[in-house]
Amino acid sequence: MKAQVFVMLVVLALVSFLHQGEAKHVIDSQERAVPYVATVNEQPVIGILSQELSYLMTQNYGDDGYDSYIAASYVKFVEGAGARVVPIWINQPADYYENIMTNLNGVLLPGGATWFNQSNGYADAGRHIYDIAVRYNENGDYFPVWGTCLGFELLTYLAANGTEHRAHCSSSSQALPLSFKDDFRKSRLFAGAPNDVIDILNNEPVTANFHQFCVTEANLTVLGLDEDWRVMSVDRDWNGMEFISTIEHKTYPFYGIQFHPEKNIYEWIQNKNISHTGNAIRAAHYFADFFLQEARKSDHQFPSEAVLEKHVIYNYQPIFTGLKRSSFEQCYMFRESPKVLPKTIKSKKFGLKKKTASLLTV
Ligand SMILES: *[C@@H]1O[C@H](CO)[C@@H](O)[C@H](O)[C@H]1NC(C)=O
Ligand SMILES: *[C@@H]1O[C@H](CO)[C@@H](O)[C@H](O)[C@H]1NC(C)=O
Ligand SMILES: *[C@@H]1O[C@H](CO)[C@@H](O)[C@H](O)[C@H]1NC(C)=O
Ligand SMILES: *[C@@H]1O[C@H](CO)[C@@H](O)[C@H](O)[C@H]1NC(C)=O
Repeated sequence: MKAQVFVMLVVLALVSFLHQGEAKHVIDSQERAVPYVATVNEQPVIGILSQELSYLMTQNYGDDGYDSYIAASYVKFVEGAGARVVPIWINQPADYYENIMTNLNGVLLPGGATWFNQSNGYADAGRHIYDIAVRYNENGDYFPVWGTCLGFELLTYLAANGTEHRAHCSSSSQALPLSFKDDFRKSRLFAGAPNDVIDILNNEPVTANFHQFCVTEANLTVLGLDEDWRVMSVDRDWNGMEFISTIEHKTYPFYGIQFHPEKNIYEWIQNKNISHTGNAIRAAHYFADFFLQEARKSDHQFPSEAVLEKHVIYNYQPIFTGLKRSSFEQCYMFRESPKVLPKTIKSKKFGLKKKTASLLTV
């Protein structure tokens, strides 16, 4: 009798253990699970994609020979969550992206103002990064990609094989709460979010929106992207048009948000409805913390600290672009990113090209 009860208890415990395991890793029984990863990399390095200068920036800084930039708020955003940052250049051959990504633990595609049809720019670089990240994840090599605003639009554009699908909309200087879908807690992005963060996002106009393009759910469906991507929230632009505000890939650790949490914390341009309340800052940090938790599951690393030192953003100094009416307080401005790729990044001989290194003297 006792033995029977014991066996039953063991079986019950086993069943509940297996169920727990399932609950942890399976988002939805309909879908393939994101692979479970045991890695905990406590020295994550995030690559941030640069981009060609916007119209205003070309007017202000084009004469100084700058041709690409990264807004410092994105750098600080991930640094504040425990990352070191390596800039990723646009306009490079495919091997450059292959090489650099073997050393990174995630890539952030920042927002900005550029066209996807510009050759050798942001979107072409994004194409390489996306394809490599898909391959990594398909091979069980966990690799997160984060897209903010234009970066989110780029993710869906690349997933659609370069089909332009965005809708024109009007959402500049718009502070909005997130309108969550019923099942948003089933997403990886929000499954573990603290309740108070969800309350803030759901009830307070904390998300900073600055976009003239939107991706609608209908746009996703037309392209069949709704099979692979989960929409967690939608919002409405100034004219009431509904757009997707948060999205994630169902299988790969790819995340897109249409708003700008980095602006809450680091951008101070006045009268643009960027919320700096304590609650807005807390919610903004949640997104960076989540992305970095994902990046800690990647075990890529630079061959040595010395090689990493040649690549980190600390080699560059941001400039105070806010003084020239930019919506960014500070930007890292790059003069001609190195056109010749390092033969192999792992080689000790690799160094920054002179021209790039001279960026230090801005
Ligand atoms: C890219 O698209 C924009 C908007 O449709 C258009 O104005 C521009 O001329 C295009 N550029 C190129 C290089 O095709
Ligand atoms: C994109 O291309 C891939 C591979 O050719 C294909 O499987 C997928 O259906 C395409 N997706 C769209 C939205 O065109
Ligand atoms: C995306 O949505 C907008 C607005 O409804 C529409 O004008 C556009 O044609 C759509 N594009 C695609 C590819 O579905
Ligand atoms: C800021 O938001 C308010 C409404 O919440 C709106 O009336 C105002 O026009 C917005 N500011 C700008 C610069 O768009």
